[in-house]
Parts: sequence; C-alpha cells; structure tokens
Amino acid sequence: MKRLLTRPFQALKRWIDFKSRGVKVWPGAYVYPTAVIGHHVSVGRNAEIGNYVRIGNGVRIGHGAFIPEGVTIENGVFLGPGAIMTNDNLPPSPKSEWRKTLIRKHAAIGAGCVIKPGVTIGRGATIGCGSVVTRNVPDYETWAGNPACKLLSKQEQVEEAPRIAEDIVRDTRSFMEQLNEISRLEPPFIRDSQSPEFRDGFEKA
Ligand SMILES: CC(C)(COP(=O)(O)OP(=O)(O)OC[C@H]1O[C@@H](n2cnc3c(N)ncnc32)[C@H](O)[C@@H]1OP(=O)(O)O)[C@@H](O)C(=O)NCCC(=O)NCCS
Repeated sequence: MKRLLTRPFQALKRWIDFKSRGVKVWPGAYVYPTAVIGHHVSVGRNAEIGNYVRIGNGVRIGHGAFIPEGVTIENGVFLGPGAIMTNDNLPPSPKSEWRKTLIRKHAAIGAGCVIKPGVTIGRGATIGCGSVVTRNVPDYETWAGNPACKLLSKQEQVEEAPRIAEDIVRDTRSFMEQLNEISRLEPPFIRDSQSPEFRDGFEKA
C-alpha cells in the first residue's frame, strides 16, 4: 500500500531529475528504477532499460531497444531501433551466471542487432544492421552479419586477397591428397555393397 502511494511521487521526482539533465524518455519506454542514466540521453519509444543498467552521457537509444540488467553503455553510443542486448547465455539460468555486456564510447549499433551476453563492443566500433554479435569487437572496426565478422574495406580486401587465395590452394591440395589416399586403398565397403547379401538386404528393406 505504501509503495502504491509513494510511486506517483517517485515517478514525478524521476521526471524532474530527467528533465533537469536533458534526458528524454519517449512515451512507451520504460526505465527501471535502479538504472543509472547520464546527461542528454534520448530513450526511444518502447525501449526498455533494465535494473542496474548504466548509461553514459549523450547516448541515443532507438525505438524498441532492449537493454537488460548487466549492460553498461559508455558516453556517446548510438543504439539503432530494435537493438537487443542480452545477459543470460543459457536461459533460464540463475542471476549469478548472467554475463556483463559493455558497449564502449562512441560505438554505433545498427538497427535490429543482437549482442550476445558477455560481449564487449570496442570504442568507436560500428555494427551493421541485423547482425548477431557473438565475439568481442575491437576498437574502431566495422562488423556485420550473423555471426558478425569484420567487414573489410576495399583496400583491405585487395591486401587480403593473396592470403585468401593461398588458403584456398592449400585446402584444395590437402583435399586432393586425401582423395588419392582413399583411391589407393581397397575399399571394403564398396566391394561389400556390390555383394548379393547387401543387395538382397537393401531390396527387402
Ligand atoms: C555496416 C555498414 C555501416 C556498412 O556500410 P558501408 O561501409 O556503406 O558498406 P557497404 O554498404 O558498401 O557494404 C560493404 C559490404 O558489406 C556488406 N554489408 C553491409 N552491411 C551489412 C550488414 N548489415 N550485414 C551483412 N553484410 C553487410 C555488403 O553486402 C557489402 O558486401 P559486398 O562487398 O560483398 O557486396 C552499413 O551497412 C550498416 O549496416 N549501417 C547501419 C544502418 C543502421 O542500422 N542504422 C540505424 C539508424 S536508422
């Protein structure tokens, strides 16, 4: 009962606090009471910010983003609409096993990304829209895809091409060697499959 009576006052207190620090929470968004929000943060419609989440200054959170407990977002981060952070790797597991996710300064997370529990997105890194990030992303790199991997610039693609070609040649050579090895053996399974017993068994089945 006491909680019910004090709730409107707490909500008003919070509203004044947010207003005084330039925090804009759009309608439908929900910020849990223990979340810590910095200055000049924008929380888009229907976004959810869980308990004990820490959000730095100047962060922009898109429509419908989900930021659960255990996530820390540093200053100047951009979260696209529908970006999903996670904390429980093998749900449902006890809280003690939840992992901490960190989005470092000025990173940009594209629309509809999913960030796996325990991942750190480096400073100034960019994550392409719709990506599923399963590993830590180093500073200032651009990653995309599912699972997300580094996107190479045109220059890097040119530099990487000889190494990729060498890998392909090496893999093909080892595959051919294995094939030769197999062809040198007398394959009992082929001989057996030609036997009348095998054929009879197969036809019966
Ligand atoms: C990742 C991103 C920044 C790369 O932009 P870019 O440098 O202009 O890259 P390009 O569009 O030239 O694409 C380069 C390559 O990466 C691929 N790629 C780009 N974005 C991708 C993504 N999100 N997922 C998978 N592959 C992607 C392209 O298909 C292309 O591959 P190719 O060279 O084999 O054709 C951009 O694609 C992106 O996702 N931006 C985020 C948009 C967003 O969510 N905004 C939110 C605000 S509304």
